[in-house]
Amino acid sequence: MTLWFMTSNKGKVAEASEYFANHGMIVKQFEFEATEPQTDDLEVVTISKLEQAISTLPNPDDMLLVEDAGLFVDALDGFPGVYSSYVLNTIGTHGILKLLDQLKSENPIQDSKLRSAEFRAVAALYCKGQTIISEGVCRGRISHQVRGDEGFGFDPIFVPTDLDVTGESLECGELGETSTHGKTFGEITLEEKQLYSHRRRALSGIIEGFSRIG
Ligand code: IMP
Repeated sequence: MTLWFMTSNKGKVAEASEYFANHGMIVKQFEFEATEPQTDDLEVVTISKLEQAISTLPNPDDMLLVEDAGLFVDALDGFPGVYSSYVLNTIGTHGILKLLDQLKSENPIQDSKLRSAEFRAVAALYCKGQTIISEGVCRGRISHQVRGDEGFGFDPIFVPTDLDVTGESLECGELGETSTHGKTFGEITLEEKQLYSHRRRALSGIIEGFSRIG
C-alpha cells in the first residue's frame, strides 16, 4: 500500500518510512508547496496543508499524509513553536542556545527546568474520503551545546526525558527504564529516536485510526 507523505524534509520521510514499513506500507515523498496559514495552532496548519493538497493527488484513491512539527521551549512561552522552521533557518540551533544562556541558573536542577521543552507533531492522513488526525509530544530539555550529526533540525540540541516502563515520557530529571543518558537526538540512531519521538507517537495514532476505518 502506498502512502504519499507531503514534505520537503528527507529526515521526516526516513522516520515515517521506517515506522510505516513495520505496518506493510510504503511511504513516498510528495512535493507540494502549500501556503501556511497565520496561526499558532499546529493542527490548523496541518489540516490546511492537507486540504490544499488533496485535489493534486496523482490518483484520488491514494492516501496522503501531512505532518507538521515544532519545538516548544517552556521558558520562551512555547517559542519557536509554529515558527520553528523560520527560526531554524535564521538564528538556528546556536541562536536558541544563546537565548537560553541568558536565563542560566547556577543551580543544576533549576537550570535543567529552565531549559525544559517539548517537540510536538500533528499528523493528518487523508484516506478513502476521510481524515484521521493525531498528535504526538516528546518532552525533554535543550542541551548546552550543539551535539551530534544524526537526525535533522533541532535534534542536536534536544535531550529527551527518560521513559517509564510503558514508554511514557517522565518529568525532567526523573530516572526511567529507557534513557539516552543525556545524549541529544543528534547523538542517537534513528531506531533509538523512534522510542521517544513525537512523530512516531503521532503516526501510531494515525495507524490506530487507519485500522478503525479499515
Ligand atoms: P515542519 O514545519 O514540521 O517541517 O518543522 C518545523 C521545523 O521544526 C523544521 O525546521 C524542522 O527541521 C524542525 N523539526 C521538526 N521535527 C523535528 C524533529 O523531529 N527533530 C528536529 N527538528 C524537527
